[in-house]
Amino acid sequence: MPDFRAVAVAAAQQAGKLIADAYRTEFRVDYKQGTTTNLVTEVDRRSEAAIIEVLRKAFPDHRILAEEGGEGSQKQSPYKWIVDPLDGTTNFAHGFPAFCVSIGLEVEGRVVLGVVYDPLRQELFEAEAGKGAHLNGGRLRVSRAAALDQALLVTGFAYDQEGRRSNLDHFSRFALRAQGIRRTGSAAIDLCYVASGRIDGFWELKLFPWDVAAGSLIVAEAGGRVTDFAGNPFSIYSDKVLASNGLVHQAMIDVLAEG
Ligand code: IPD
Ligand code: CA
Ligand code: CA
Repeated sequence: MPDFRAVAVAAAQQAGKLIADAYRTEFRVDYKQGTTTNLVTEVDRRSEAAIIEVLRKAFPDHRILAEEGGEGSQKQSPYKWIVDPLDGTTNFAHGFPAFCVSIGLEVEGRVVLGVVYDPLRQELFEAEAGKGAHLNGGRLRVSRAAALDQALLVTGFAYDQEGRRSNLDHFSRFALRAQGIRRTGSAAIDLCYVASGRIDGFWELKLFPWDVAAGSLIVAEAGGRVTDFAGNPFSIYSDKVLASNGLVHQAMIDVLAEG
């Protein structure tokens, strides 16, 4: 049985080093789909190429879904790697220190492995289905905050105007009820912070599989709960994610339902 975890960790750390080395240097920035909000840098692309090279060498027959489309092959395989080579690109481009690499492995439609690496803090979050979640080798556990007014929440906003607007109502309602709200600019970090108890709940609309594949497994394996906004089972292909320590989950569903 190949060591999927070791390969994913090696790929994430290699890409993380490349990103950390490029941080605060000059790099090319492009805009996706003619917007001024959705950036992609040459570092995103280089990181993706490095990850694909490691995965491809170890698993030539597996499928790879990567955000910047670096692979795009039509292979048939039950194994599918889901890669965000740089989650938090806007932060990275501005020199704001919150970004990471996210690599998930789906087997027959189920995420079984997730690795998220924050190269500046050298924090490696990881989980394997049924084996718990870990940060740099130590076991992760979600927080114990049991009410919204004791909870620190986090969210993010999509790149398009309509997506941004649709989260503003939720944001203002949570802002009045939670102890505090943060916006880190990296959905994968948000999920790992729920898993590690630094944050009690996270919601966001219009995310993509590469934003949430690894992080959603890490939350679940840390004892948290991940669903859509109505409490239905989560799919990485759905566009709404609600992740929490479990204890504030219903209260968050109720607030989201008011919108
Ligand atoms: C973005 C980040 C951000 C979230 C956006 C994502 P990217 O990913 O995760 O926190 O709010 O919706 O698209 O573009 O930096 O990989
Ligand atoms: Ca992302
Ligand atoms: Ca990205």
